[in-house]
Amino acid sequence: MVMLKQLATLVFVLVQATLLPTPSIATADAYFELQPEWLQDYCVADRYSNITVSGMVKCKNSAHVHVTDFLFRGLNVTGNTANPTANAVTPVFSAQLPGLNGLGVAMARLDFAEGGISVPHTHPRASELLVVLKGALYAGFVNTTNHLFATTLTVGDVFVFPKGLVHFQLNVGQGNAKAISAFSSQNPGVLQVGRTLFGSNPPINDEVSQGSLYEIGKFFLVKLAEICASVVN
Ligand SMILES: *[C@@H]1O[C@H](CO)[C@@H](O)[C@H](O)[C@H]1NC(C)=O
Ligand SMILES: *[C@@H]1O[C@H](CO)[C@@H](O)[C@H](O)[C@H]1NC(C)=O
Ligand SMILES: *[C@@H]1O[C@H](CO)[C@@H](O)[C@H](O)[C@H]1NC(C)=O
Repeated sequence: MVMLKQLATLVFVLVQATLLPTPSIATADAYFELQPEWLQDYCVADRYSNITVSGMVKCKNSAHVHVTDFLFRGLNVTGNTANPTANAVTPVFSAQLPGLNGLGVAMARLDFAEGGISVPHTHPRASELLVVLKGALYAGFVNTTNHLFATTLTVGDVFVFPKGLVHFQLNVGQGNAKAISAFSSQNPGVLQVGRTLFGSNPPINDEVSQGSLYEIGKFFLVKLAEICASVVN
């Protein structure tokens, strides 16, 4: 009887082992695809090289790497908000901090004068994690089926803008506002909606621009009607 029980246990274990997915070569491949192994500690950007590999600049010779390659000074300095949007971004990307090259992280300081706005834009290569250090920001993003996720953030609040989605921030507090953003890329890139459509160089041809204007106009007229109605009421 004891032997029978042992045999049953063995059969059970064997059946389980054949049913369960085995840790296959495919899993190992997926791992390396997600996390390619570096053969070095870092790849400090060589500012004087023209060679880039998928957005990553050629690595500086390790023998010439200095502690200052990993250092950025000046995020304590308020950005100049004397501009039409009353907003300033101080980036700390791989262009400003060569040691970030290839690491897939970066940060920025955001300053807003009273009423300042970071107009709708997207970072095609990075999610953004924002923490408010001073003031109050109305911040939000729109998902790919046009649903708005927006709220008012105050000091200590952290908000995430998922990669690639159009987002904005508006200073709704009194006085200036200050925030720090972290990015999941050393070179997040930025596309500003209006500038991309109407401010490209060379400009997008008139027919395409008219199409864009028509698309915007449709929604603008609805918005204008809403604004007029609220003023009248
Ligand atoms: C980089 O490109 C510029 C202009 O194309 C050239 O003048 C310069 O010599 C290049 N530098 C190197 C290190 O190849
Ligand atoms: C920022 O910090 C630097 C030291 O890294 C200091 O020299 C400078 O005065 C500071 N600036 C402000 C505006 O606090
Ligand atoms: C966008 O958000 C709305 C509201 O939560 C949701 O119904 C929709 O599925 C979302 N779209 C995507 C692509 O996640």
